[in-house]
Amino acid sequence: MKWCKVVTQSNQQLGWAEPARLLAFAYIDFLLVKRLRAVATHSQFDIFFIYQEETKENKSVGKLFYGTQTGTTVAVAESIQKQLADLVSEIKPIDRSSAADFADNDFLVLGSSTWGDGELTDDWVDFWPQMDNINFSGKKVALFALGDQVGYGYNFVSSMKIMYDKVLERGGTIIANQITRDGFDFEHTEAIVDGYFVGLVIDEVNEPHLTEDRIAAWAQEVRNGLMVTA
Ligand SMILES: Cc1cc2nc3c(=O)[nH]c(=O)nc-3n(C[C@H](O)[C@H](O)[C@H](O)COP(=O)(O)O)c2cc1C
Repeated sequence: MKWCKVVTQSNQQLGWAEPARLLAFAYIDFLLVKRLRAVATHSQFDIFFIYQEETKENKSVGKLFYGTQTGTTVAVAESIQKQLADLVSEIKPIDRSSAADFADNDFLVLGSSTWGDGELTDDWVDFWPQMDNINFSGKKVALFALGDQVGYGYNFVSSMKIMYDKVLERGGTIIANQITRDGFDFEHTEAIVDGYFVGLVIDEVNEPHLTEDRIAAWAQEVRNGLMVTA
């Protein structure tokens, strides 16, 4: 069996490892933090792995889970992923997700439109019992919600507070949770804590032209919360 020699960029030898283990590790590491610079040349004797000598950035790649009733949230989820392309590797509809899907990521985005009277979408409601099987401790979670401030201004985007409360109850940390209410006009919401929305608020019914800018401003808050630069 050929062994792998692990060297740094400046050619300092870090050690040797079995190829299978190193390949598996390298693959995971590359996907998660892009720390591995290159799987380099196959020489006659060794396979060299060149390791980037930067300190590992505090950067976690995450997943986005969303619920929708009539599909509007899908496009918003896709826009979020575009604006956080380096941080959100996958978007998943909650009705095709399981508690296990939440396990591997330290960063999660959860979103829902608002239905009934300030409630989550049916797909989230169906999933909800599984939230109690997810340990959110150590996870940073950013939230978003869709609503209609004119038609349902008496309970605008209140679904977001349901997600907020559950994530906190399960030990998670909410980031990007001080979003201004300026520019919105509604009677009541549950989704404001200490004067701020606890996540991104989107009104595709009345203000679709503001959606991209709202996502951009919130995405910056997410980066701040994760301590990563664009
Ligand atoms: C029956 C019904 C109930 C709704 N209830 C609320 C509500 O309580 N609060 C709110 O902000 N928006 C409410 N909305 C607005 C939706 O959240 C909004 O239309 C959203 O964009 C739908 O997204 P979706 O297509 O992804 O489900 C309601 C809409 C309908 C049709």
